[in-house]
Order: sequence, then structure tokens, then C-alpha cells
Amino acid sequence: MRKKLIAGNWKMNKTANETKEFFEELKKYDLNKDVNMVICPPFSSLDRAVNAAKDIGVAIGAQNMSDQESGAFTGEISANMLLDLGVEYVILGHSERREIFNEQDGYINSKVRYAIEKNLIPILCIGETLEEREADGHFDKVKSQIEKDFENISAEDAIKVIIAYEPIWAIGTGKTATAKDASEMCHFIREEIKKMYNDEVANNISILYGGSVKPANVNELMNAPDIDGALVGGASLKAEDYSKLVNF
Ligand code: PGA
Repeated sequence: MRKKLIAGNWKMNKTANETKEFFEELKKYDLNKDVNMVICPPFSSLDRAVNAAKDIGVAIGAQNMSDQESGAFTGEISANMLLDLGVEYVILGHSERREIFNEQDGYINSKVRYAIEKNLIPILCIGETLEEREADGHFDKVKSQIEKDFENISAEDAIKVIIAYEPIWAIGTGKTATAKDASEMCHFIREEIKKMYNDEVANNISILYGGSVKPANVNELMNAPDIDGALVGGASLKAEDYSKLVNF
């Protein structure tokens, strides 16, 4: 049985002090113990977040990472640096990394493989643009991303990846995919994983939906078949809203 996961992606928001305040407030709410909770703050808040989140059962993730061990890579963060802080998850291939920072599938695949090797849990983001959906190209786009991003990853390792389906047109726009559309794509992703691997991987891999998830729509999305959780940006920034998402 796949457990639901509510992951917050804070993007470039919150200082270390604001991070600490968030967790102090989150402590006041009763949180559904049957849901896995992850918060991904900026790098500069990771240390504070790991310490503040420990006793409330929230795991911490980073928003990106290098595919290299160490060395002359100005501005980059390594897996060992994240592990040393107690970070457990890492978002890879977010559409903002792909679109603004020009990250390509080959590079993202390399990061996913490296995260697995280092025992960090990758949250791999995939999803189509508005133009692709309007031209009926959304399934082809997502299929191609899955094929490229999972290249040279064994079944044993593939099962460790969390996939986040995030249609780009729904991110930060207030436009959410309907539960039906989101669930249809998550089902399609599971079928593609089955074709690439086997039933066991397809039945156990977690597939999240992301894109304008908020307390008002989380319940419907979480009750749709094939959706195992949510990757949430804007609505994860307030402790009260995050608690509502977890208690969907
Ligand atoms: P949003 O962002 O919830 O603010 O749409 C989601 C994401 O980018 O992961």
C-alpha cells in the first residue's frame, strides 16, 4: 500500500529564521500520522529546518543538487553536503530548473542516478507546457521525459524514485489540473513505468501531482486513483495551510 506524501517546495522563499518560525507554528497542529511529510526549503535554511522538524516527523529535502562528488563547481551543492545536514530528499528536474536554468533530461538523469547512489530520495518532476497540452502532445512529452530521465536506472533503483507530475501551466498560476486530468496522467505514467520495468515497480512507485494544490482542492486530488500525494509550492509556505494539506 502506497502511503500518501505531502511535499512542500518553498522555492526561493524564507530565511533560516522564518524557517524556524514555520516549524514552531506547525508544532501546534495535529498532523495526520498516516501521511509522509517533506519540506524542501532553500539551501541556506536546510540546517535549521532539519533541527526544527525532527520532533514533528517532517523530513527535509533540498530543491536541487549537483551530479558531481566535489570540486570546482562554483555555486553547486553536493549530495554529501546534504547528507551531512540530515537531508533525506532532493527535488530534481523541477520545471523552473528546466526552463530558467536550461537543465536537460540527460543532466537530470545523471542527477537522479547520483541521488540514488547516495541514498537520497529523488523527487523527479516532469510535465508538459500549455502549448504541448493544447496541441495534444502532453502524453508524448511526459513519456519522453520518463524514458530519458530513467535511462540506465535498474528496476531495483527505479522503485526508489518519487515522480511528481507537474503540468507547467498549473504551476503558480492558480490553475489546477482537474482531479480527472491529473489522475489520468498519473495513471499513464504508472503504465509507462510498467512497460519500462514491471508490475512491482509500477505498483509501488509513488506518483505525486503538483501545480496550484491548495487546502481547497487537495482532498479531491488525493482521493483520485493513482495520485499518491502532492508537491506544493505557494500553499506550503504557511504552517496552517500546510497542516490543512497534510490533514486533507
Ligand atoms: P505551486 O508550485 O503549488 O505554487 O503551483 C508547485 C511547484 O512548483 O512545485
